[in-house]
Amino acid sequence: MNILVLGSGGREHALAWAIKQNPKCDRLIVAPGNAGIAQLAECAQFDINDGAAVVTFCEVNAVDFVVIGPEAPLAAGVADALENAGIPAFGPSAEAAKLEASKAFTKAICDACNAPTAGYARFTDAQAAKDYVRAQGAPIVIKADGLAAGKGVIMGMTMDEALGGIDEIFGGAFGAAGTEVVIEEFMEGEEASLFILSDGKNVLTVGGAQDHKRVGEGDTGPNTGGMGAYSPAPVLSAEIEAIAIREIVQPTVDEMARRGTPFKGVLYAGLMIKDGQPRLVEYNVRFGDPECQVLMMRLGGQILDLLLACAQGRLDQIKVNWAEDHALTVVMAANGYPGDYAKGTVIKGLDALNESSNEMVFHAGTALKDGMITSNGGRVLNVTARGATLQDAQERAYAMVDAIDWPEGFCRRDIGWRAL
Ligand code: AMP
Ligand code: GLY
Repeated sequence: MNILVLGSGGREHALAWAIKQNPKCDRLIVAPGNAGIAQLAECAQFDINDGAAVVTFCEVNAVDFVVIGPEAPLAAGVADALENAGIPAFGPSAEAAKLEASKAFTKAICDACNAPTAGYARFTDAQAAKDYVRAQGAPIVIKADGLAAGKGVIMGMTMDEALGGIDEIFGGAFGAAGTEVVIEEFMEGEEASLFILSDGKNVLTVGGAQDHKRVGEGDTGPNTGGMGAYSPAPVLSAEIEAIAIREIVQPTVDEMARRGTPFKGVLYAGLMIKDGQPRLVEYNVRFGDPECQVLMMRLGGQILDLLLACAQGRLDQIKVNWAEDHALTVVMAANGYPGDYAKGTVIKGLDALNESSNEMVFHAGTALKDGMITSNGGRVLNVTARGATLQDAQERAYAMVDAIDWPEGFCRRDIGWRAL
């Protein structure tokens, strides 16, 4: 098969790496890709958010299957364009992608199917929102409705923070994503992410993970896209997983189908777990980044069969083959991230690493310049390892980190601490 993966991050590097291990994969193309992806696939340059451009590329290159990595092409309807052109693809329609693109939409779905989640109210007017917050009290959570690259959530731990967050969102800090505000009850508990494939009807869990969102050790400092992750997540016991599927995920999939907008793709359920009960924090309609990297390290080449079964509506006929293993990824980011940082700094030592099915450096934001790997983003490398225990995976990952020579980058040294 000729397979096209859309995206350019560590998530897409991991997807491409795993897909390539499957003998069904003859030709692998990633658009736009990055310097790490270029070592294992062809990279192509075109506008991946333009459905017509993606379809044309697939027709010219006889692509048999498209895997859509990030949320932007999904929200832009690239899966719809491919479906209309008869090209098999993995990823939800724009209508189903609203489960990530609109927090208010997701809340309405949860209401319709009685899925446990935080209590909430929606506002398009700052004064009404502030009156509500004053009546509810802090802590309380303020969210811009739309896609804000993971930054549209303000934790109002004090009343001032909550009121400030409302001003920030309605003041345009998140652009069009902030024309509506969702205000939520603050949920306590431990967070974990569950990844579930849905073919529109059937669901299949492809793993759980926990990530570290804060930039600093001990989970302190500003939020980031994620500084590291590990799988499995001890807090996601078999019982909790079963409750989450029964009370949250399957009802969501059923409700989307009932509305005539079935969800086909991966549902990334952010869960808050307390006293044995999971509640939904949010959905994403794509694999997490860097959570995908640890999932792919554990799943390997079978992921292609799973994604194909998902796209073809056969998830009830396939199983995941699990090993009793653990994977952990450490994000190396450019100094200054998540604030201002430099691009174009040289990274050395990657060639000397022994990459294998147990140890891989996935590139998140790199470019090739004069034959050298250089940084090309905030989160730059995902140093990922697998082991018989989480501790083993952690030790291997940090041994690789220590062999990388990049003075302009940093990482957290405590990825996995909550589980260890
Ligand atoms: P979201 O983009 O909705 O996942 O929110 C980002 C992060 O904010 C989540 O991963 C949680 O850590 C936190 N968060 C969001 N909503 C809530 C809530 N209702 N209660 C507590 N924490 C929340
Ligand atoms: N790591 C969080 C995300 O992918 O949204």
